[in-house]
Amino acid sequence: MKQPSIQQREFADRRERLAAQLPINSAVIVPSAKLQHRNSDVESPFRQDSDFYYLSGFDEPEALIVIVKDQAVVTYHLFCQPRDPEMEIWNGYRSGPEGVKIDFLADKAFSIEEVDERLPELLDGIDSIHFCMGTCYQTESRVESWLTSMRKKRRQGVTVPSRLIELSSVLHEMRLIKSVQEIEVMRSAGEISAQAHVRAMQICCPGLMEYQLEAEIIHHFMQNGCRLPAYSSIVGGGKNGCVLHYVSNNSMLREGDLVLIDAGCETDYYAGDITRTFPVNGRFNDAQRALYELVLKAQMACIEELKPGIPWEQTHDTSVRVITEGLVELGLLKGNVGELIDCGAYKAFYMHRLGHWLGMDVHDVGDYKVAGEWRLLEPGMVMTVEPGIYVAPDNENVDARWRGIGIRIEDDVLITDNGCEVLTGLVPKTVDEIETLMATTRH
Ligand code: GLY
Ligand code: MN
Ligand code: MN
Repeated sequence: MKQPSIQQREFADRRERLAAQLPINSAVIVPSAKLQHRNSDVESPFRQDSDFYYLSGFDEPEALIVIVKDQAVVTYHLFCQPRDPEMEIWNGYRSGPEGVKIDFLADKAFSIEEVDERLPELLDGIDSIHFCMGTCYQTESRVESWLTSMRKKRRQGVTVPSRLIELSSVLHEMRLIKSVQEIEVMRSAGEISAQAHVRAMQICCPGLMEYQLEAEIIHHFMQNGCRLPAYSSIVGGGKNGCVLHYVSNNSMLREGDLVLIDAGCETDYYAGDITRTFPVNGRFNDAQRALYELVLKAQMACIEELKPGIPWEQTHDTSVRVITEGLVELGLLKGNVGELIDCGAYKAFYMHRLGHWLGMDVHDVGDYKVAGEWRLLEPGMVMTVEPGIYVAPDNENVDARWRGIGIRIEDDVLITDNGCEVLTGLVPKTVDEIETLMATTRH
């Protein structure tokens, strides 16, 4: 099934917009991801680095982007694996330098095998080199080795760049604000992820293994053109729902328990990220319903507030207030709401933040504070809204009926000119909607 995708013209626009923000005589360096060894001679499925893909749309390993802004001229160099008929028999097609000029609009392209020879030449006369620091690609040491070889040639007139500058402040700000094409792709990721959660509700029943629900979700992703999930799916029945990063997914789902599913697909490199929590047998019991409705109340209150101009932190604070008030009303916390918030008592039940930026990475790039202040939301930002309540199975301070209940409700939300758009609204989340779906369409 064909999903919307980012066109080559947009990748070129991104490179132009990036270059326009850089000083003259500068170079940008962005390495591709590496193949990850899994075990023996098996590799994990390759997934391109998000920054690299954002600027190129090129999904082969062993590649390097070098954008040189020399006075007013910007040149896009792409180093890639050379064509190799023998290797291609084993590992598949490679574009090669000629191919990336045609298909990926590189101005100049070279074999990656030439990178150590060519980089010192490309960087000659450049003032500043811009790259993302502290990543796992060892870019610092590669740049350092190119500079070292340049320093040895100073007497031959080579001029060595004098400044190494962090690229993320420019590149990740660009990634934070989504374009029309990106929003279209993210709507699709939200829709397919939502449909997968509906499928999980429709097949869930006591006795199923958690990984069988996961299988249904992955099946739906793949049947709809999404080769990979955006992150490891969490399917936690009963008290497993209280383990925030539970990914074992190997327990049996039991009558009377809830199941928490946090799963989203990746569509053309953009993530969906949805959590739903629902009863394994299709009916909430009283304790489950009370806590569920409280999490939902917090989530809806936050979504209601989202619009341009509000500080990032505001909705987190709203979620803390609604959840703390509710926990006091239900008797899980005792005391004055303001004091319970001030001393962080709510963190025994709600220990994570409300959400995060969402985009090519599930926990996407972009700063949350600017000049020391929580940043204001702007149209084109996409974030998750995912409050939760998790009552530890061994929490002796609360009545036994609450223990081992873990609930999170997560949607993906685009900030629009006047408010927001929920990208994942297709999957039910009120108690009535969930119970009705499970009572009427389960098979
Ligand atoms: N699925 C990861 C998260 O919700 O943050
Ligand atoms: Mn999330
Ligand atoms: Mn999630």
